[in-house]
Amino acid sequence: MCGIIGYIGVKKATPILIDGLLKLEYRGYDSSGISTIEKDCISIMKDTGRVKNLYNLDGINNLNGNIGIAHTRWATHGKPSKENSHPHLDNNNNFSVVHNGIIENYTELRDFLIRNGYTFYSQTDTEVIPNLIDYYYKKETIDDKYRILRALQKTCNDLKGSFAIQVISKFMPDNLIVIRKDSPIVIGKGDNENYVSSDIPAIVSYTKEFYFLNNYELALLSRDNIEFYDINLNSIVKQVNVVDLDADSADKNGFSHYMLKEIFEQPSAIRKTIGSRLSANDSCNFEELNFTKEFLSSINKIYIVACGTAMHAGLTGKVAIEQLCNIPVTVDIASEFRYRNPIIDKNTLCIYISQSGETADTIAALKLSKSKGATTLAISNVIESSITREADYSIYTHAGAEIAVASTKAYTSQVILLNILALYFAEILESISSLETMKLKEEILALPQKVEETLQCTNLVEKYSKEICHEKDIFFLGRGIDYTTALEGSLKLKEISYIHSDAYAAGELKHGPIALIEDNVTVVGIITDESLVEKTISNIQEVVTRGAKTCIITNQSLNNIDFNQVISVPKTCTLLSPIVSIIPLQLLAYYISNEKGLDVDKPRNLAKSVTVE
Ligand code: F6R
Repeated sequence: MCGIIGYIGVKKATPILIDGLLKLEYRGYDSSGISTIEKDCISIMKDTGRVKNLYNLDGINNLNGNIGIAHTRWATHGKPSKENSHPHLDNNNNFSVVHNGIIENYTELRDFLIRNGYTFYSQTDTEVIPNLIDYYYKKETIDDKYRILRALQKTCNDLKGSFAIQVISKFMPDNLIVIRKDSPIVIGKGDNENYVSSDIPAIVSYTKEFYFLNNYELALLSRDNIEFYDINLNSIVKQVNVVDLDADSADKNGFSHYMLKEIFEQPSAIRKTIGSRLSANDSCNFEELNFTKEFLSSINKIYIVACGTAMHAGLTGKVAIEQLCNIPVTVDIASEFRYRNPIIDKNTLCIYISQSGETADTIAALKLSKSKGATTLAISNVIESSITREADYSIYTHAGAEIAVASTKAYTSQVILLNILALYFAEILESISSLETMKLKEEILALPQKVEETLQCTNLVEKYSKEICHEKDIFFLGRGIDYTTALEGSLKLKEISYIHSDAYAAGELKHGPIALIEDNVTVVGIITDESLVEKTISNIQEVVTRGAKTCIITNQSLNNIDFNQVISVPKTCTLLSPIVSIIPLQLLAYYISNEKGLDVDKPRNLAKSVTVE
């Protein structure tokens, strides 16, 4: 969704701002803009369409300012248009503002400002912010360095909703101001320059030192200094965090798309997720958790709550936790969970999974369960993301920055982390034998190699994708753990190829979906769970009888059966099989989208980080 970049230093700000926006493109957006301070006045350039269009705007090359703010907008209030793009100015051109989040009471604030003589030129919620700052600035009687900060403080006290805000002003031409509540923003510390961004990868090529703001904390940046304040404008001290993230994680490294690069990064991402948490001879190690047997024995119910792909990872986690720990697990979609009054008490553990750590529904669901007394545990890929700040406990997947909108390596890392977590619980609870523990550990440690082997199916999948890329509907079938892979494979396909697809538990076919099967429809079957092979095959035969073409992802020898396409994956234990069987399906979605000439990394209407409800 929307992205923010800021720069204050000695270099020309414009190229740094546009470079930063290009790195935030993956979040999804429909317009972009920048604003710089030019000889004590504010300039603004903005338009709809791609960030690179900014280079073509008249006068952009004449901007020489060393301080600026920039934004990619994903329309919420008002259609994508130049007027609705950020930055937004107040009526007197004193303050320029970019904003991520949603101002829920903007109509009320707008009416108030209109009554006080302000005019609005956009349909956005954001435009109230610079005008409110201007309103309060004028009311201030003391003209000191804190005048703007006081105006911003009063403005933020009026705002309901979520915001990450950057402000520049002609009254403070050597500063840039940042404040946040419930929307992400990081500040990068440089040498005689400082940066602001919605996420670390966009500015990691400039600095590895970052500050993270808590809700209602404000930062006043100058070239060589950053002052931090709480909402009452008391000065606060913040620790700098050194983040060791590869600068090239935000580059394609020779791959034609981020998605393909990220699919191929899975062996190394999985190695990093396993890290030092698991080794053949020691107990699983989660220093961040330190759960005791007494605590885990008191847990009588676990909820795993997430959205989209992260929720599919949660479905695999349910199987692992129930099987290894014998604790009942319910998996919920966050947007449903938060409104359905779930039964939660102090003996409930709620696990929240979010690659970005910024998904609005997941965060709201987390807050709800906390307020009802549950213990909350966040699983995220992004250090210091909102979900990890909110939860009682947090663990990271360490999969590296994921840029493509379609999640791939984050998913497999989530699945593996959930399995290690389940094993960690099981070791503490002594709920499985040491032989079972040892076998599962061996299988987990062998996974990076098995994923590498699986990737050898790439050419076969690419060839097959050309055969089915013009289909209108594709169905995915599986049983047990393979059903979770069917769901994820189907989601991947629809989001980037725009082919309608659905996933069904194979045993459900007869209860309705089989009515959709007709001549030449493609059905993808996933068959890896040894105990269910025959059952799934008989379901697949039912669709073959009705004229379907079949593609089977399997770790079994199914030589005697005539499928149109078989893609073999290495054998691993059932709990871990989604990690290998999803790979051909990720590749299939990728190659179909590419074959159709679609924007693989930035599919229409989708955003990488869904920060609004
Ligand atoms: C699909 C995809 C989405 C996300 C979902 C949750 O490829 O990426 O379904 O999984 O929007 O996002 P996070 O994990 O950031 O909470």
